[in-house]
Amino acid sequence: TGYITIDSGYKNTGATKSAITFLDGEEGILRYRGYSIEELAEKATFLEVAYLLIYGELPTQSQYENFEHEIRTHTLVNEDMRKIFEGFPVNAHPMGVLSSLVSAMSAFYPDSYDDKAPDSTETHIIRLMAKLPTIATWSFKKSQGHPVNYPKNDLDYCSNFLHMMFALPVEEYKVDPVVSKALNKLLILHADHEQNCSTSTVRLVGSSKANIYSSISAGICALWGPLHGGANQEVIEMLEDIKADGGDVAKYVDMAKNAKTSGFRLFGFGHRVYKNFDPRAKIIKKAADDVLAKLGVNDPVLEIAKGLEEAALHDEYFVSRRLYPNVDFYSGIIYRALGIPTNMFTVMFALGRLPGWIAQWKEMRENKEPIGRPRQIYTGATLRSFVPMSER
Ligand code: CMC
Repeated sequence: TGYITIDSGYKNTGATKSAITFLDGEEGILRYRGYSIEELAEKATFLEVAYLLIYGELPTQSQYENFEHEIRTHTLVNEDMRKIFEGFPVNAHPMGVLSSLVSAMSAFYPDSYDDKAPDSTETHIIRLMAKLPTIATWSFKKSQGHPVNYPKNDLDYCSNFLHMMFALPVEEYKVDPVVSKALNKLLILHADHEQNCSTSTVRLVGSSKANIYSSISAGICALWGPLHGGANQEVIEMLEDIKADGGDVAKYVDMAKNAKTSGFRLFGFGHRVYKNFDPRAKIIKKAADDVLAKLGVNDPVLEIAKGLEEAALHDEYFVSRRLYPNVDFYSGIIYRALGIPTNMFTVMFALGRLPGWIAQWKEMRENKEPIGRPRQIYTGATLRSFVPMSER
């Protein structure tokens, strides 16, 4: 069986070759299929980026129109899925609901688990892209006691999501282009990040030939954790706590320095790969300023975030460990300004990451990668004899 080396957390283990996303943690570089994240976030639509990630090239006009059209024709969700949804308690966390319903999709589309029907994969990809926003908005509507909105297919992808979230049957709802543009940018920034925890989960689950819905559902569960995508919710809750506590950022920096004893980490700080800065955080910080100004929102939490960043960046503990704000540090502040509630932040991350998960699942299948099956070094008892219960 050969020599086994342990690499806890896979800090130095490459699990696959991939042509999707390039990331240089020292230089703070992130590129999807060769295009810089800065340029994509500025110039592209989220669906263009999704197409790029999934199919490898930017779409031509007709490829784009076709992709968008396909997605539009699949935005409705089977009404029987609504019955499953209605069984959830009103305070169910939207991430638990999302992962369950995506998993349930495999039962609604049984050809997804028939590996002899690979032709249907394209349709499953479209279904996931089309239905995830619809499902995501249900939890919010239920939490408000409002009826769900059916998709409005003359709207673009981001505007349709906003419509399903915020339109009410009693008054006309017009999507604010500032809001829809900001959402487009955030989704692009989240769209892929090579072999992170949730993506590795999607690939590992998919490597057993599990269907695409189950694989993506597993990715959603992995993303939910507070050390991964769940950090965006934790950040806002932390900033709120600091505000309620008088805004003393230095106190929280001190607590985080003693993370080992206090158990408190600065959420939205630190990254496994980025050691000088997270290029996504740079873009988001600027976007937070722009969006809040354009929407005329004055959120005191933004000032606390900036103060906290400033204090941490001048602190030896954070400097020596090369801990910088990551993508989750400022994203919640923008989501909040867009009217999205805190417990939906990680759902927003999932909507953004979906094309990345799909692209990575597809690449893994096309490259015919073997089943993922790490080894271990056994540390338990050596052989011993069974002791009857009466003698234990
Ligand atoms: N606050 C205080 N100390 C920290 C923090 C933090 N946020 N992050 C890392 N450290 C310390 C850690 O205690 C350790 O110190 P020491 O060397 O004395 O043992 C050192 O920095 C290295 O940390 P690590 O936990 O070994 O690093 P890692 O690569 O295993 O973890 C991380 C990376 C992102 C999980 C971690 O930095 C963290 O927990 N950050 C807070 C949660 C967060 O913001 N997550 C979002 C990540 S980015 C987007 C995403 O993935 O969703």
